[in-house]
Amino acid sequence: MVMAWERVMSDQTAAIARVDVPAHVDPALVVDFDFFADHRYAEAGSPHGGLLKLAEDIGRGIFWTPRNGGHWFITDHELLFEAARMPELFSSRNASFPAAPGEEPFYPPVNSDPPDHSRYRLPLMRAFAPGRIRDLEQNIRAFAIELIEAVKDRGRCDFVDMVAEPLPIFIFMKLMGFDTARYREFREWAVAMSQPDVEIRGQAYIDTMKMARPLFDERRAERKEDVLSFLLDEEVDGRPFDQAELDGMCIELFGAGLDTVVNSLAFTIEHLARDPALQDRLRAEPALIPEAVEEVLRRYSVALPARSVRSGIMPLTGCAASQKNWKVWRCTRSSRASSDSAAAPFFEARRAGADRLVIPSGLGGGAGGRSRRRRGWPVAAAGRSRSGARR
Ligand code: HEM
Repeated sequence: MVMAWERVMSDQTAAIARVDVPAHVDPALVVDFDFFADHRYAEAGSPHGGLLKLAEDIGRGIFWTPRNGGHWFITDHELLFEAARMPELFSSRNASFPAAPGEEPFYPPVNSDPPDHSRYRLPLMRAFAPGRIRDLEQNIRAFAIELIEAVKDRGRCDFVDMVAEPLPIFIFMKLMGFDTARYREFREWAVAMSQPDVEIRGQAYIDTMKMARPLFDERRAERKEDVLSFLLDEEVDGRPFDQAELDGMCIELFGAGLDTVVNSLAFTIEHLARDPALQDRLRAEPALIPEAVEEVLRRYSVALPARSVRSGIMPLTGCAASQKNWKVWRCTRSSRASSDSAAAPFFEARRAGADRLVIPSGLGGGAGGRSRRRRGWPVAAAGRSRSGARR
């Protein structure tokens, strides 16, 4: 049977070139690894298992692959942690993966470096403050229950189609102040934004911007209780955001908040479906649900941040590099520590202090951190209370 992720990943990889190994790369660091469709994914039965297998096969450290345009990648948690704190070497500017040609548009704060980063980050932190997210919780819970009610008597469903996609997309649209009648279009744009084809990706960004601009104009005339209105009243360097900054933030939130949540929900439910003992435990001890949410986020990291590598000597490898040759650096297996093993009992690795970078602890700590954690709860809790003892 071909799993959905296998189909998606092999479609993606077909589009991207394999390149020659540049002269500056130490041959000892070259590993044939295809981020989108590595053979280890299928061998291990999942992308996450495949990334663990990769680290087992080649060891922990920093390596270079000629696949997907050629890029560095890191298999070591502690090294990733260190690298996340070296913006002078690993820049968030022009870091899209696979690399887009030319200078990327500005999507603050995610593709900015210090000191700009925090100037743009703070307004978003305020927009997603705990109180604002708490206010949404009741509605999110009600919507999660509604989605589960719609499928539960069928005994089976395509979870992504029926629950994992509609839930975050509707919530996000409401939060932002977008017209929920355009849900289908949004869904298509959200999928397009995670494609490797730069034209498809770029068109989704343009469509999002075209949709949002008239809404910004409406909010300028009359504020509402939504993130668009909130951003209009925020400032950077003592001035309101200009339209390019507003466009960038809107596109970034769209890209950051949808695919991530859809995939995290899907991996969560897949894990639960395969682990009936854990289901029983969570039903018996619902107080463990928040910790279980943390653990699935840690185990199944869905956002693996890329960075462009600055010119100069790379202290991590000793290889000298020109910016041209070091276009993209990619992290893998960002969430699991070297002490972590695929066979570790569910709660044990995290409790033993195996930190995770899935919700980054470095410079890129997402504004969605609070919202995505809270979002996990209603689904898990609603699933528990509504489905009773059923599996
Ligand atoms: C399970 C769901 C999510 C995961 C796993 C996740 C993961 C991440 C990761 C790894 C980054 C760092 C990217 C980088 O450094 O290049 C990030 C940044 C970000 N995320 Fe999320 N995210 C999720 C949900 C959300 C949601 C729901 C929102 C908002 C609606 C959001 C908004 C952001 C923003 C604005 C940033 C940029 C923050 C900054 O640069 O300071 N995320 N997220």
